[in-house]
Amino acid sequence: MAHILVTGGLGYIGSHTVVELIQHKHSVIVVDNLSNSEQSVLQGIYDITGVLPAFEHIDICNKQELSNCFTKHSPIDAVIHFAAYKAVGESVQKPLEYYTNNVYGLLVLLDVMRAHNCNNLVFSSSCTVYGQPTELPVTEQAPLQKATSPYGNTKQICEDIIQDYITSNPLFKASLLRYFNPIGAHPSACIGELPKGIPNNLVPFITQTAAGIRKELQVFGNDYNTPDGSAIRDYIYVVDLAKAHVASLNRILNNNVNKACEICNLGTGTGVSVLEMIHAFEQATGVTVPYSIAPRRAGDIEQVWASTSYANKLLNWKADTPLIEIMRTAWNWEKKIRGIQ
Ligand code: NAD
Ligand code: UFG
Repeated sequence: MAHILVTGGLGYIGSHTVVELIQHKHSVIVVDNLSNSEQSVLQGIYDITGVLPAFEHIDICNKQELSNCFTKHSPIDAVIHFAAYKAVGESVQKPLEYYTNNVYGLLVLLDVMRAHNCNNLVFSSSCTVYGQPTELPVTEQAPLQKATSPYGNTKQICEDIIQDYITSNPLFKASLLRYFNPIGAHPSACIGELPKGIPNNLVPFITQTAAGIRKELQVFGNDYNTPDGSAIRDYIYVVDLAKAHVASLNRILNNNVNKACEICNLGTGTGVSVLEMIHAFEQATGVTVPYSIAPRRAGDIEQVWASTSYANKLLNWKADTPLIEIMRTAWNWEKKIRGIQ
């Protein structure tokens, strides 16, 4: 059993990862400032696992409080770092907040880890670092492109910071996990995504439209160079994604890594269009989603999906939950939080 500190552990991906960590017998300390989550998520984690993880209501940018937390829970064997702001559009409006929370937050975390001799890190990166790749599926060797949003830039800068820190500290090990599009909820419907306000992401918008909260879904663009004209992404089940974190963490903890910094795509390897997503939801649930075609969304890329062979081999892991099943979990979660039978 290792002691794992999870920043942002009450958020969407963090909470699912905390469940997997507990189920793999790790002891978890959740650090979250509740800026995009609720403390009630702890209850959901307890309902699934029968374990209530330690919770510290702390902003990671507060060095003193974070350091006290490391002292209180010493020794911390590793950190999984989810805490960040993540809305691409909002980052264009609030770049300073995004650079502060995402980049300064990481610097504070690394500084506190250094002070407490904690040398193992798993970091949430994003396929956004690839922009629109010239070759698909996109491999980890694809050149990174200049970020099109402050959010995307924070992920590139954070990856660089971690690599530079590794160069300076031979004991430090990290894995940079580049997520494609996480969707769905835990099969128990005890935890899931809790978007605030109008969702930006496709699946929460689909489920809210199906629940009657939104009148119709706008499909952003049907004139892309894709088979049905709508944009293509690689949608990965959040529970599969959470499991990859445990696999990656265990490599680091067991000193099994090939390199001090392992970089991995986490996706399914299959691209799915927006229209196919709507139809998959309808097929999975029997509920119709009203939609209309709207102009392309500014900043969107046309298509991206992951090359998964490196992650599959390295982590001995595969994201293989069928899309229909994932859509059912998303719908069950939406129904639960809206009180729909
Ligand atoms: P989320 O917003 O649901 O979770 C982030 C959590 O971190 C929230 O609980 C929030 O309250 C907390 N947090 C934010 N700033 C904090 C701070 N300064 N101190 C303490 N807690 C703080 O987001 P998510 O979807 O779970 O994403 C987790 C990570 O994965 C993020 O780093 C995000 O950029 C990255 N990521 C997400 C996606 C996606 O589509 N969801 C895709 C690629 C990468
Ligand atoms: N879409 C619609 N209508 C909507 C919402 C989305 O047509 O109401 C379309 C988008 O135009 C896009 C696709 O659905 O073609 C997926 O959009 P999302 O907003 O769900 O996801 P993105 O691929 O744009 O971005 C997401 C995260 C980013 C992250 C990126 C890569 O929001 O934080 O995946 O991981 F960087």
